[in-house]
Amino acid sequence: MDTIRIGVLTTSDRASAGIYEDISGKAIIDTMHEYLKNPLEFEYRCVPDELQVIEETLLELARDKKCDLIVTTGGTGPAPRDVTVDATLAVCEKVLPGFGEQMRAVSLRHVPTAILSRQTAGICHSALIVNLPGKPAAIRECLDAVFPAVPYCLDLIGAGYMEVNEEVIQAFRPKTK
Ligand code: MTE
Repeated sequence: MDTIRIGVLTTSDRASAGIYEDISGKAIIDTMHEYLKNPLEFEYRCVPDELQVIEETLLELARDKKCDLIVTTGGTGPAPRDVTVDATLAVCEKVLPGFGEQMRAVSLRHVPTAILSRQTAGICHSALIVNLPGKPAAIRECLDAVFPAVPYCLDLIGAGYMEVNEEVIQAFRPKTK
């Protein structure tokens, strides 16, 4: 079974300064352990809301650490220092708008302010980057909404072969291409 390398990037001025604990980053790691049967290796980073720092970290995780999947949390909203989506768009060769559309649609069933998230996804150096909002509750709501398409996306970009825990999450892989 492939070892899957997962980048977890929390963007938050306060969490990176140690003012509060990064619950959302931890929730991403816990969720990946629940979803996946593969051996997992995590590359965890927590950085301030600085465009250049976020871009450099995403590139490091995708190109140098060769992550298969990178999940970010925080910085997707409209405030001046919400720049995670901008960094994601700057480093991705391809953008996958369906991820953001689906996450917002599902999130709107939980909170009307889901419409404020600019979250998206894209491909960078054979890694799939997915943006999540910063709120801990958003992590599972958003991941459950899009993860069924993630294993096949990784197949298509030549990343690792994910094997999911079927009792927790379903992966959809079309039989023919
Ligand atoms: N999506 C879900 N599923 N749950 C949430 O609580 N919070 C919203 C939205 N999306 C939320 C959500 C709020 S209040 C904001 S401001 C935006 O995400 C952006 O959050 P961020 O800047 O922390 O990424």
